[in-house]
Amino acid sequence: MKLFHISAECYPVAKVGGLADVVGALPKYQTQQKHNVGVVIPNYGNSFFDQKTLKSVYSGSLTLGEKSLDYKILKEKKSTLGFTLYLIDIPELFGRPNVYGYPDDTERFTAFQIAFLDWLVATKNIPKIIHCHDHHTGLIPFMVKHAFKYEILKDIPTIITIHNAQYQGNFSFEKLNYLPPFDLSHIGLLEWNNTINPLATAIKCAWKITTVSSSYLDEMSFSANGLEDLLRHEKSKSIGILNGIDTEVWNPETDEMIEKNFSLQNYKEGKATNKKVLCKRFNLDDTKPLFVFIGRLVGEKGADLLPNICRIAFLDYLNKINILILGSGSAEVEESLENLKVFYKTNYNVYIGYNEQLSHQIYAGADFLLMPSRVEPCGLNQMYALRYGTIPIVRRTGGLKDTIIDIGDEGFGICHDQASVFDVNYSIGRAIALYDNSEKTNQIIQTIMSINHSWENVAQQYLIVYKSLLKKTK
Ligand code: ADP
Ligand code: GLC
Repeated sequence: MKLFHISAECYPVAKVGGLADVVGALPKYQTQQKHNVGVVIPNYGNSFFDQKTLKSVYSGSLTLGEKSLDYKILKEKKSTLGFTLYLIDIPELFGRPNVYGYPDDTERFTAFQIAFLDWLVATKNIPKIIHCHDHHTGLIPFMVKHAFKYEILKDIPTIITIHNAQYQGNFSFEKLNYLPPFDLSHIGLLEWNNTINPLATAIKCAWKITTVSSSYLDEMSFSANGLEDLLRHEKSKSIGILNGIDTEVWNPETDEMIEKNFSLQNYKEGKATNKKVLCKRFNLDDTKPLFVFIGRLVGEKGADLLPNICRIAFLDYLNKINILILGSGSAEVEESLENLKVFYKTNYNVYIGYNEQLSHQIYAGADFLLMPSRVEPCGLNQMYALRYGTIPIVRRTGGLKDTIIDIGDEGFGICHDQASVFDVNYSIGRAIALYDNSEKTNQIIQTIMSINHSWENVAQQYLIVYKSLLKKTK
């Protein structure tokens, strides 16, 4: 089956968070299952590719409001990622280092979507399915249905996967002219709360809505940053499919980013060596349990709680634990976390920034991973932690609830109900007690390292969705 994934991120080319991991992995597994899969992302100025390794397969010019923008479709000469990657090259809009965060993000991602559809139409490159990810691609299900120039695509099933409903990409109706001419009787499909809301538009227009865990699907009906009623209304065409992880990239036996590779057979030695290296680098004591946090320092992740989680934990358990944090985001949280270093010189450290290699080393060397998320549609960190023998401590929400079972319920993780300093502190206490029981800890590590969250099964679930949509086209 021929299909396109269209997304703002794709690992390893452009990654901000889990969206990239999903779009870099699911297509690979679909390709292995003999589907013809193209992934389309913008060509950012982050220089991931040496330009010589790319070739231009199409050149065109698109219209965005009053502006005309030249663009190219680039393709890797030799496919190295396990699927065919297309980069939409609009230097004026994307020739910058970061994926998001520019004042003209609306222009950037609207032009990106238009270029994609213009290219399909111009080259009569008609897929069976168009699979969109998050709001950056949310106007596509509307445009294929209602924009006159995309008439030949109007019967192609579109899917929107919601990785995070907090972000919706809304913009003012003053920019309505960015969209190619469409049947104005459908203008209401673009609107939510008096703005053009690409995520809401996709929810209304896509043939199918998927999100990245069953629990998050349920939660969105009462907590989705203003889209609750709409999502409740569209629930009959929605499904939760838990993400997988790329077990080729995230494999402690072969991972080149960690100091010492290990498997179930030698994990004790492997994890101890990785922990030693990490503790040495960050001036921590490797004889004590190592608690870590990896992630975007934003409210959804409960990152604002971290400074007080550390303060209270050090008050209660000072000589018993280490905490190491890797992340970037809110300037205020970054500063508070940096400031703590002065007070806890040998038990605590923080690395502010994004560092892929270090994240692997931390999953490999840590004892416990903290995820006090307020919102976690799926969460990949806890699944990486499982595979690397690190016990997750999670708030029961979204995908965390669907993947981690508490040790008190014959499970393998530590769970709490509230995203609060008190709940996390209590969980840290339980973790210390567990750590002191090495027999039980080892039993759990063996269990978690054996859990299979590979994409193979998940790719099959998407296939079932695609097939059900194709039936409707007949
Ligand atoms: P989200 O997409 O909401 O950020 P996920 O748990 O789905 O959360 O995925 C986060 C991904 O980003 C994981 O691969 C995680 O290891 C990675 N990550 C997050 N912050 C950092 C960081 N500062 N440095 C390296 N990797 C990070
Ligand atoms: C989003 C969510 C995260 C999820 C990821 C991949 O960024 O915040 O929970 O794991 O997308 O689907």
